Amino acid sequence: MDLAGKTILITGASSGFGAAAALAFARTGCHLVLGARRVTRLNEVAAAAREAGARSVQFHSLDVASTRSVESFTAWARDFHPTLDVLINNAGGALGLDPVALGRDEDWEGMVQSNFLGLLRMTRAVLPLLPQHAGAWVLNVGSIAGHTAYEGGAAYCGVKAAERSVTQALRLELSGSGIRVGSLDPGLAETEFSLVRFKGDAVRAAKVYEGVRPLTPVDVAEAMVWMVSRPPHVCVDELVLKPTDQAAIHKVYRRPPATPG
Ligand SMILES: NC(=O)c1ccc[n+]([C@@H]2O[C@H](COP(=O)([O-])OP(=O)(O)OC[C@H]3O[C@@H](n4cnc5c(N)ncnc54)[C@H](OP(=O)(O)O)[C@@H]3O)[C@@H](O)[C@H]2O)c1
Repeated sequence: MDLAGKTILITGASSGFGAAAALAFARTGCHLVLGARRVTRLNEVAAAAREAGARSVQFHSLDVASTRSVESFTAWARDFHPTLDVLINNAGGALGLDPVALGRDEDWEGMVQSNFLGLLRMTRAVLPLLPQHAGAWVLNVGSIAGHTAYEGGAAYCGVKAAERSVTQALRLELSGSGIRVGSLDPGLAETEFSLVRFKGDAVRAAKVYEGVRPLTPVDVAEAMVWMVSRPPHVCVDELVLKPTDQAAIHKVYRRPPATPG
């Protein structure tokens, strides 16, 4: 499907996959609607997206953890675009890596609010703006953590598993509407994800990627563009994208550090 002139709404567009997606979609000549909490960062992404060829770029603060924020964001977007073609539910991330025995309520609640309830809220608000039988999309960003749990990831793996269930239920609910619903489930990718998970501890965050060649935000953004640009009769239900170095969630090949001399 030709995306030129289509309108793509991306949540979590201030960094990582969302920011890279804004640029990748911009190159198709689409209209962009961007949301996240850090508006200064959105402003930078919007400028780069205009430069890259977006037909128009609008951005506004959005906290998917708040129903009021989601509703005012959607009302604002509707003023520019009475209909949207693509919703990319990307906002989210992990908070902490504690085992359940040491888990913190604020981390659990934060992950549920952004990854799970945020996705439901955004979808509910945007569905009335998606035209039927016109190739529209709801593309949810999941994770391989939603397929296989790991120690310290109970809440994060739980919310990403929930994302898969929402994706599947929504696809059933929209059967016959022509609106496509799918999930893009990346593995290890270098973004601000680990910095956020470890609450600004850059040394601990860097260790996650030590010796590995992870996915880049561009890899993930290109996969999003590919999914969304399939012809309207084709739905990519679920796409798992992992670095070659990550044979499975626990099996990550790490190169030994180079020896000096
Ligand atoms: N990196 C990985 O290895 C990986 C792998 C699989 C899946 N994922 C998933 O991919 C998605 C994007 O993550 P990323 O790797 O690109 O990390 P990132 O660089 O930290 O980006 C996360 C984005 O989500 C936004 N966000 C977080 N909470 C939000 C909220 N309550 N309301 C609005 N926006 C919110 C952030 O913006 P603000 O802080 O400005 O609001 C930011 O733009 C997440 O759903 C994450 O779980 C990541």
